[in-house]
Amino acid sequence: MSKLITLQTPLDMHLHLRDAQMLQLVAPLTAKTFSGALVMPNLVPPVTTKEALLAYKQRICNAAGDEKFEPYMTLFFQHYSYDFLKEVKEHIIGIKLYPAGITTNSETGVSSLDSETLRPTLEAMSELGIPLCVHGETNGFVMDREKEFMPIYASLAEAFPKLKIIMEHITTKAAVDLLDKYDNLFATITVQHLLITLDDVAGGMLKPHLFCKPIAKRYEDRSALQKVALSAHPKVMFGSDSAPHPKHKKESCGCAAGVFTAPIALQILAQFFDKYKSLENLQAFISDNALNIYGITPPKKEVTLIQKEFIVPQSYDNFGETVVPMYAGETITWSIVE
Ligand code: NCD
Ligand code: ZN
Ligand code: ZN
Repeated sequence: MSKLITLQTPLDMHLHLRDAQMLQLVAPLTAKTFSGALVMPNLVPPVTTKEALLAYKQRICNAAGDEKFEPYMTLFFQHYSYDFLKEVKEHIIGIKLYPAGITTNSETGVSSLDSETLRPTLEAMSELGIPLCVHGETNGFVMDREKEFMPIYASLAEAFPKLKIIMEHITTKAAVDLLDKYDNLFATITVQHLLITLDDVAGGMLKPHLFCKPIAKRYEDRSALQKVALSAHPKVMFGSDSAPHPKHKKESCGCAAGVFTAPIALQILAQFFDKYKSLENLQAFISDNALNIYGITPPKKEVTLIQKEFIVPQSYDNFGETVVPMYAGETITWSIVE
């Protein structure tokens, strides 16, 4: 008998849905198997007003079609007033902070990460109970960027003890170690960072479809991430950071950063948790921890996975867009029961 697992209300707490044709292509792929997702605001221009936020949410819902799916919206961090935040609070799940220029579409991010400079907005968020999601990298040497950001996380966590701070897409042992030092720190982890190291990206032939920010790190970093994910540490949540870029922008001189995993993430996670005899913890990693951390009640959805081979498509094509997923053409040993 093949093994089965049924997941309740799967959530993706870090997702890029883009806009226009790309949104049309990718939104249904997530809406099919996830109850909800935290949607990143790094559009061009970024989402910074209530009007843009609500209009984007509507476009997402339209693109998702008939699926029961809740887009949890975020604003792109800038200096916002208390009154503005009070007004938008009911429409957002958090605010995403990007250091300027550190990743895709972050040019208008913050240039000073000093707690005092950020204080007016962070204090307002803290008072209103709006979480802060952070892309935590400095502009140092690429392998050290996340580690170098740890003192910044620590000073923010200390300066704003009531502010929930989510360390997005963590990739290092340093981040895992920091997690338990402050009550108000949490983290998302992607599937690629649970599975690959820099060796997979650049150790042999260069693999553009595995290139993302932060870049995959060392084996000891991956082990630390695996340990907290497989044990479903209550402060970690699944966030795919599925970041679609058109095929020609990945397979080009000057490859865009981002790995597209939305349609294969659940299958890979089932295979991975099964391999390490931890399937019983997948429910907490994929949903329960996020429900507790964010205090949300997404639409109910049940997704059953079976231990049966699934060949990852070479690409997903529709609406004139083509995106290549992680592991294109390869076999995953778990599939979704349709
Ligand atoms: C993301 C994107 O393409 O929007 N890219 C990535 O490599 N992760 C941005 C981000 O999450 O940093
Ligand atoms: Zn990021
Ligand atoms: Zn991202």
